[in-house]
Parts: sequence; structure tokens; C-alpha cells
Amino acid sequence: MSATGADLRRGPFAEGERVQLTDAKGRLHTITLAPGKQFHTHRGYLQHDDLIGAPDGSTVTNTAGFEYLALRPLLADYVMSMPRGAAVVYPKDAGQIVTMADIFPGAVVVEAGVGSGALSMSLLRAVGETGRVHSFERREDFADIARANARAYFGEDHPAWTVTVGDLVEALPEHVEPGTVDRVVLDMLAPWDCLEVVGRALAPGGVLICYVATATQLSKVAEAMRDAGEWTEPSAWESLVRGWHLEGLAVRPQHRMHGHTGFLITTRRLAPGVTPPLRKRRPGKGYEGSEDADGTTTETIPGATAEEWTPEAIGERVPSDKRVRKVRRSVTG
Ligand SMILES: C[S@@+](CC[C@H](N)C(=O)[O-])C[C@H]1O[C@@H](n2cnc3c(N)ncnc32)[C@H](O)[C@@H]1O
Repeated sequence: MSATGADLRRGPFAEGERVQLTDAKGRLHTITLAPGKQFHTHRGYLQHDDLIGAPDGSTVTNTAGFEYLALRPLLADYVMSMPRGAAVVYPKDAGQIVTMADIFPGAVVVEAGVGSGALSMSLLRAVGETGRVHSFERREDFADIARANARAYFGEDHPAWTVTVGDLVEALPEHVEPGTVDRVVLDMLAPWDCLEVVGRALAPGGVLICYVATATQLSKVAEAMRDAGEWTEPSAWESLVRGWHLEGLAVRPQHRMHGHTGFLITTRRLAPGVTPPLRKRRPGKGYEGSEDADGTTTETIPGATAEEWTPEAIGERVPSDKRVRKVRRSVTG
């Protein structure tokens, strides 16, 4: 069997596989196939055995005569329905990250944090068996959930993946030789705290991409990149994906969409000793603070101190410890 799960993506449905069922109203249900088991709704039930051995893309009818379409989940489906500790990077952003950070087969990639492992799986797919993804996560419970999610998807531990529990700033220098990393992907609250270690790990010309949830984080990391003086001028963007309703003559954008997920910002590591070409425009005065009557400089913008940057302050939903314990138990058994 392929260590990266290619065999699991082909052929008839097998015992232990996750299958996505869509009912006539377009509602989705994900089940894990087990011999003798039934999938119940308030309108009848169906036998898992009717699906085991059936080809991908089959339909199955339940005891009340309702038909379901059964499909093997794609990676994008899987990450949206898998158990979560932390919030996941949505597929639209994972696609941007893989392409814009130029994650290539065989690349050596550093990633932090791992969260639920959604982005890790896209990175692993892009680097393939010959690449390496060194992922760092400071919460052991989240690392456990991510490992279990990836194992369930790839069928076993992906050969290119190592997950280290620890803070990237301390752990990265212990695990990676300076100048040996091709790409770094940061999805965390305070990526500016990691710029120095990441700069040492990256090879000249290597790409750093950060995913941040708020404009305040975006501004802070952009200025930190500029201040460090060893990076190219950063570029930032967001992507908006608007689904379309396709029914008869009613072909139009859907009424609902995800209005915001996060911002992306990229920069590249300059060669050692090289300073970036002079920028024509400097950041506004507000960023650098204002001078008081006694000559001292006061930071006036919010977020100047490390303590201010909390998940709650940027509006991130923080799962309770009880919830994380439940998810961890459910995925690790
Ligand atoms: C939003 S989650 C990442 C989600 C992940 N990219 C995914 O797609 O599932 C952010 C994670 O970064 C971790 N984190 C924050 N700062 C970190 C650091 N300095 N080193 C390691 N992990 C960190 C947090 O514990 C959290 O799990």
C-alpha cells in the first residue's frame, strides 16, 4: 500500500473508510464504513454493507426509500468535516498557500502551528514522499488531534511528516540546520515573534508565508519583516471565493458566502549580508509612536505589547478544554 494514501483514493469502498453521503436536499453526512453497522436518520436507515465493495459515486436507498449519493471525500471535504481542536485553514486559502509559497515536490517545509492539521495535509500532498514537512505545535493536545486526522486521511503516518510539540522559537533551531529550509508557513497569533529563527532556518531566496486573521496582525508582521532588514518587500492579499447557484435560468452568485477567513502575506529571504533596496515610502508616524515632551517615545497603536495579543483579542473562537479533551479522546481512542 502507498504510504501517502493514493490507494485509499481509488477503487471500491472498503471497510474503515470514510464516505460522504448526500441526500436529495443536498445535506451531507459522513460515515465510517463498518460491516453490520447501520446509518440511521429520523427517516429510516441504511446498511453500511450495501456500500462496502460498491464503486465510488454509487447511490444507496434506505429502508424508507430515500436515496443517498455516496462519494469518497476529497481532501477539501475531509478537512471541513474532520474533528477540530483549533480553527482550520480553509481549502481556498490552503490552495493559495501551496501555490503562492511555491511548495514543490521534494521541498523542505517548516510549518507552525499545526492546529488541527488541515494545512499540514495540503503541504504533505504538495511535497510528496520525497519532501519534508517539519511541523511545530505548542499544544500537545492539538498535535495529537492533527496526527490522528492526518493518519486517518493518509492511512498511516505520512513518511514526509514530523510533528514537534513546542514553541517554534525554541524548537526550530534544535531540529533544523541553519539555511536548509526551502519554505516556511506560519499560521499563528504572533508570527512576528518567529521572524528571527525562521530567517536563520531559511535558505537564501526561500519563501515565508504567513496566514493571519486580522488586519492588525497583518500590519504588525509586515512592519516586523521590514524592520528586520533581511527580507524582500512583503506582499499581502486576501482571497474571496463566491459560490454560484446553478439552477435552470437562475444562474447567479449564491446569497451566502464566507466573507472573511484570513489574510496572506509573503516575503523572501535575502542572501546573508544583503540589505533590501531602499523603500520609497516609510510607514506612517502612528506605527512608530509619538514623541512626548520629555523626549521619550510612546507607542500609541494597540498591540504594542505581547500580552495584548490573545486569541480572544483578535476575535478567535477558543475551544474549551473540555471540548478539546472530547475531540482528542474521539480521535485517539
Ligand atoms: C489557527 S491554529 C493553526 C491551524 C492549522 N493551520 C490548520 O489548518 O489546522 C494556530 C496554532 O498555532 C499554535 N501556535 C501559536 N503560536 C505558536 C508557536 N510560537 N509555536 C508553535 N505553535 C504555535 C497554536 O497552539 C494553534 O494550535
